[in-house]
Parts: sequence; C-alpha cells; structure tokens
Amino acid sequence: MQSIVVMGGRPLTGSVRVGGAKNSALKLMAASLLAAGVTTIRNVPDISDVALMAEVLAGLGAVVVRTDHALTIDATTLSSHEAPYELVAKMRASTSVLGSLVGRLRRAKVAMPGGCAIGSRKVDMHIRGLQDMGVRIEIGHGYISAEGRPHGANVILDFPSVGATENLLMAATTASGVTTIENAAREPEIGDLAAFLSEMGARIDGAGSTTITIEGVDELHPVDHAVIGDRIEAGTYLVAGAMCGGPVTVSGFDPSHIEMVLTKLAAAGAHLETGPDSVTVSLTGGVRPVDLATLPYPGFPTDMQAQFMALLSVADGNSVITENVFENRFMFADEIARMGADVRIEGHHALIRGVPQLSGAPVRSPDLRGGAALVLAGLVADGSTVVTDIHHIDRGYEGFVERLRSLGADVTRSGCDDGIPQEGD
Ligand code: EPZ
Repeated sequence: MQSIVVMGGRPLTGSVRVGGAKNSALKLMAASLLAAGVTTIRNVPDISDVALMAEVLAGLGAVVVRTDHALTIDATTLSSHEAPYELVAKMRASTSVLGSLVGRLRRAKVAMPGGCAIGSRKVDMHIRGLQDMGVRIEIGHGYISAEGRPHGANVILDFPSVGATENLLMAATTASGVTTIENAAREPEIGDLAAFLSEMGARIDGAGSTTITIEGVDELHPVDHAVIGDRIEAGTYLVAGAMCGGPVTVSGFDPSHIEMVLTKLAAAGAHLETGPDSVTVSLTGGVRPVDLATLPYPGFPTDMQAQFMALLSVADGNSVITENVFENRFMFADEIARMGADVRIEGHHALIRGVPQLSGAPVRSPDLRGGAALVLAGLVADGSTVVTDIHHIDRGYEGFVERLRSLGADVTRSGCDDGIPQEGD
C-alpha cells in the first residue's frame, strides 16, 4: 500500500505549473466518440482517471494513444455501445459516454454509477433530460439502456448538475431540432466542452450561462484541442502556498476560473498577485477565519472545500464551512481531527475552531480532494504525517509529491503500489 509521508514545518516558495483540467479532459475524451475519425486532445494530465477513461473508450472500439500529454483517439468505428459496470464503478465520470454514444450511435448501455464517499451521485437528471429529448430509457440489472435519436426539447434541470449538463449537451449536438438546457451548470469545464464540440461542428450558444441552446446537426468531425488548465489543482497549490507562507506562483490556468477561491484566500489574509495565467500567493502573520458556502459555479467550488478546511483549521479564530453540493462531503473532517483540528459537523455545516498547530499523525485519504488536503495539513503539522489510500490522490493530481517538493516541501512517496483498483468518483 503506497503512502505519502510529510514532514511539517518547511516554508514553501517557488513556482509550479498545473496540468490540464481532469474534469474537462475526461469529458472531451467521451465527446470524441461523436466524430468518426482521429481526434487529438492536448494538455491531458497523466492521472489514473484518464487511463480509466481510455479503457472505457477502448472497450467501445476506439483506439486511444497517449504521447506525453497529448491523446489521439481514433473513433472511426465503434464496436460496442456498452460501458461495463466494472469500469463505471471505478470511475463515475464514465457515465459521460452516455450522451456521446446516444449522439453517435443512437444507443447506449451504461452501468448505473454507485454511490461513493461523498454522496449518492444519482443520474436522475441525466435520464430525465434524455427522456425529454425523446430517447427511450430502460433501467434494469444495474444498467441504463438508451435507444433512439434525440429530438430538440426544452430541458429544465432541477439543479445545475455538471454531469447532466454535459451529457445532455453532447446528446443534443446531433439531435433533430433545437434543444435548450435551462438551469445549466456554468463551470469552466462546460465552456471547454462546448468549445470542443463547436470546433467539431456543433452549433451551441450560451455555454457558461444558465441557458444553453443547441441546434442539432447531422454529423461532427474530429478536432485538435487543448484542455483548459486545472483550476482545482491550481487552487490546491495556492492553499498550500498560503498555509506555508510563500510566495508561491501557480501558473498554467485562468485565474478568472477561481475568482471566489481567490476572494476567500484574500479574506483569510493571503496576498495575491494575479497574472493572465498565474497567481502568486503569500501569507504572513497568521490565517484569518473565514466563512464559506459551496455552491455551483461561480460560487465557491465544492472541490476546494477540504483544502480550505485544512487552511482554516489553523486560523486565528472560528470559521463555518457549509457544503451545499454533496450530501456527505465532510469525511475529511474526521481525518484532520486526528491531527488535532477542532471541527464539529452540524448537518451540512462544519464549525471549525482554529488551533495554533496541527500534529502529524497517520491518516487515510477519504476521497480525491480530502487526500490532497491531508497532505496540505501535514505541511504545517508538527512532526510526520503519513497519508495512506493515496490512489485517490493519483486519480486527479499528476506528480503531486514532485510538484510540492519543487516548492521545498519535505514530502515523499513510500511503500509499494499494491495496484488494487478502487471505486472512485
Ligand atoms: C462533477 O461531478 C465533478 N466530477 C466533481 O468533481 C464536482 O465536485 C462536481 O461536478 C460539482 O462541481 C467530474 O467532473 C468528473 P453534479 P458531477 O452532477 O457531474 C446531484 C472531483 O473532486 N445530482 O454537478 O457528478 C449529485 O448527487 C469531483 O474532481 C443528482 O441528484 O456533479 C450531487 O449532490 C468530485 N442527480 C449534485 O447533484 C443527477 O442526475 C452535484 O452533482 C446529477 C447530480
């Protein structure tokens, strides 16, 4: 079992460049199925979720080749329309092929994603939206089976679900007629997917706003596209820099994609300098307490919630974090409590009383972002912190240990990779 060992107390300074956004790259890979031909996607992070998505695409008959940080995906002929349970169970994002298979083959059979550490992760909005578009859906034996060419429709989402918006967007690109998606998710990754699809020949308006309009076309063609920078990876390193003093410069992303995160970092006492594709953070004189609530974009991202809990656990005062997106995303609190953090969960609120210092301890990654946040906590803890179950971290952070070491952190990866695949987001 591999682990990450952190010796706390080292200042972090220097610069780090983030990779392409995991939560965009996975969807662009799924969307490449819409075009018969060879699509190239650049700036793809070398993380295990990408490898898993490549397995899903290969199972459908596409040929995926990685060359450094670029993928070529030959989707000329697809031999299957099924995303099997064993792959969907490992990575929920596999359900993103539902929309692109309906868009390309007019049929799909995708395993129902199970729940996970952070919540039930339902797909009812994906299903209802496809039914609104006239796609016949059957659910049985743990699978969603979809059949038929979508027709234009006016779909209203109960909640601005990222995954539902993406699946419906992909299916609508080759529907007969015009589709509108109301109460659509506005995350930057939606904008990147819409740009990718438009380059393929789709006719999309309003991506990034709450209403997206798609005029169906008969066929899409392959493209060459670079993934946007990973705003959550960037936010993670910015929090690390704030916790350890800095100055730390994080580049390779669009700072406007994490405005709320930067606002909350400044409220916590960080000094920020923003460039076109970078932010430099420093924080001297103690972390100030901050209240925050996670919300769909442009609200505070739920994927930065655990990292901020680590930051605020050593603030000079009390903070409240409210989690409004997932029903069970405070698993991290139990683990950081082992390091001396004072966090009390009341429903979907976490009440955090800042402590002068955390103490290093053995802890387990509860999920992707919680694992990364435990390493951040270790950076400021007294003594050594050993983080296990780090396969969660490897799903979304390329070179996490190396990038932190390049900033001066005393962080090492140890143990052998048991290679046991785990269920994940
Ligand atoms: C995406 O998940 C991201 N994953 C998540 O990042 C991110 O936290 C989330 O969006 C919110 O920003 C990927 O892009 C691969 P949702 P997704 O559909 O699409 C409920 C990470 O750490 N819901 O916006 O699954 C759902 O249960 C991961 O990188 C329904 O009830 O998020 C959740 O409570 C974690 N029915 C809420 O909506 C549905 O049909 C938000 O889910 C769909 C969703």
